[in-house]
This record gives sequence, structure tokens and C-alpha cells, in this order.
Amino acid sequence: EDVGKGAFDHYMLKEIHNQSTSLSKTIRGRVDPDEGKVALDELDPEILDGVENVHLVACGTSYHAALFGARMLTDAGVRARVFRASEYAKMAGPTSDGTLVIPVTQSGETADTLSALRTATERDASTVTVTNVVGSTAAREADESVFIRAGPEIGVAATKTFTSQVVTLILLSQKIAAELPDASPREDLSELLAALEQIPNHIDHVVETSRAEELASRLLEYDAYFFIGRGMSRPVALEGALKFKEITYEHAEGFASGQLKHGPLALVTSQTPVFGLFTGEDAEKTVTNAKEAQTRGAEIIGVGPADGPGVAESDAYLEVPDTHPVCQNLLANIQLQLVSYHTAKQLDRAIDKPRNLAKSVTVQ
Ligand code: G6P
Repeated sequence: EDVGKGAFDHYMLKEIHNQSTSLSKTIRGRVDPDEGKVALDELDPEILDGVENVHLVACGTSYHAALFGARMLTDAGVRARVFRASEYAKMAGPTSDGTLVIPVTQSGETADTLSALRTATERDASTVTVTNVVGSTAAREADESVFIRAGPEIGVAATKTFTSQVVTLILLSQKIAAELPDASPREDLSELLAALEQIPNHIDHVVETSRAEELASRLLEYDAYFFIGRGMSRPVALEGALKFKEITYEHAEGFASGQLKHGPLALVTSQTPVFGLFTGEDAEKTVTNAKEAQTRGAEIIGVGPADGPGVAESDAYLEVPDTHPVCQNLLANIQLQLVSYHTAKQLDRAIDKPRNLAKSVTVQ
């Protein structure tokens, strides 16, 4: 793999563009839409014997991928909870050999995530790490590993690894659901797998047609930036805000759209644009919540399909292909990556190495 920036100004932009390729590698040989089956051959299915519940532990961007994975698991009837890895030892409560703990970590070296992994092992849980790095500490210490195959990521702000983590967790969730007695894979699994096979093309389309750069040029002078989503678009809203604050140094927050009126609405003014994730099954409710912010003067930037429910209500709109609702969320995230990138670039920030941040945090 070419390790330089190539024709790109920054590694982050290269990595955003690279996502069609990296995601193709993530799914290669792992999806069979005709049979409606997921193959994760490196996972010994015996690890799933007797599993009663699942804990996902992670930090930063990986935590948002874990939120997405947990929602896929609960939708399939698996009892799943997500923990910030730094809180796991205190928050998890008792675990047993019926608990499967999934540390989600791009690097496999994040101290808090390794600590949670060790806590899980001490408490007799089984562990399967989802990581990008073969030979990492997490991969060596967990009982099993599932690799996201995203390739090396240089930009401190995670982009392609998030996309590959989410897709790997989608596949793993359906594998777990197929093995557990009280759970079952999604009824629309064949459609979802077929849509996943199309995602590399959809990513190329989003990257080639995105209007994020032109939008960014008039987004530079605001007080704060909010991102709202509901259900499966909530992790995308949280990730959109994290990416934005990491590289623009502007104040950005992500909220569950239904929580806006329980506090954050007090912050909303004409100087706080609101990004509405109008993707997936809960889009219409998020549109309603975005309108509550619009009434207080905020500009609404919708992200969703061309004929989605929020088009007419949005002051600006970033389109995603009208694919499976689960996949729409991933494509919306790519639009938000581009918004963050172009805003940071126009603000002349140090995009690949933001101040005060490290690619891998090896202290607790
Ligand atoms: C750091 C990085 C983030 C990353 C987080 C977790 O904070 O700056 O981009 O999401 O660590 O890293 P991991 O390697 O465990 O996914």
C-alpha cells in the first residue's frame, strides 16, 4: 500500500477517499447475500457457546462504532451493553463465563481498552477483540480477534477505521445472533449484506459528489456546532461532533435528537448550526427535533437520501444514496468526515496531527 499522501493535501483526505478500497477488504469473503450468511472464519464459533450477554468496551471513535454494534445486537435479540473502557471496571457489575466482552480498538494498544480487556479476563468473561492491528496487544491478549482489515491509518482523527469497525461489528453481530439460542439474525439480512457489497461504490459516489467543501466555506464563523441523530444515526451524530472538534478546535457536540429539548436547546441560537442525521428508520422524528432548533434561529444542515423526509425543512442538505437504512448511516458519516475536513482546512488547522491529541493513547 502507498504510504505517502499521494495527490492529497493530507493523510486524512486520502484516508477518507480510500474508504471504498479499505471497506472492500473488510467485507471480502465475509458476506454471502444469496445465502443470507456471514462468514467470519477466523472466529472459532466455540467462543460463542454459552454466551448470554455481550459487553462492548472502547474509547473515542471506537466507542461510537461500539454503540452502533450494540444496537445491531439488541435488534437481533442479544443482550448487549456498551461501556467507555475507562469506566468498565467500576460500571460493568458482575460478569460470568456467560459474558462475552468485545474490546473495539483500532490500534489494539489503547491503555483504557486493554485495562477493560484484562478486567473482563479476570472476571471469567470470554473476549473477542475487534481491531485493525494483527499482533497488537489486544489481539495477543484476547481469546479471539476479528480484524477490520482497514490498512494503516496515519491521520490522528479516525476515518476509514471507523467505517471498517462498524461494518465488522455489523457482521459479527449477525454471526453472534445466528449462534445464540434466543437470538436470530435480522430478517432482512440478505438485503443488508447485498447493500454492504454496494457500499464501496456508494462511498465513491459520496466522495466524488459531496458538497461539503462549499458548505464548509460558509460555516466558519459560528459559536458552536451541534449534531443530532436518533437510533442508529445517534452514533453517527456523536462521531460527527467528535471529528469536528478534534480537527477544527471549534465547539461541537452530538446529542440524541430526542434529548435536544431536555437541555441543549438552551444553547441553540442563530449562531449554532445543527446537523440533522435524517438517515435510517428514525429520520422523521429527527426532522421534527431539528425543526425545534430551526424555530430558535438555527440553520439546519440535513444529511440523508435525496427524497428523504428532511429535504424541504433543511437550509442545506448533504445527500447520501438511497440504500439500506443501516448503510445510509455509514454514508452520512462520510459526508460529515468531509465537512470536518474542509472546515478544518479552511480554518488552517493541523489536520493530520491536531494539537494535544495522539493516535494511540497508551496511558490511563
Ligand atoms: C485516541 C485517538 C482516537 C481513537 C481513540 C481510541 O483518542 O485520537 O482517534 O478513536 O484513541 O483508539 P483505538 O486505537 O483504541 O481505537
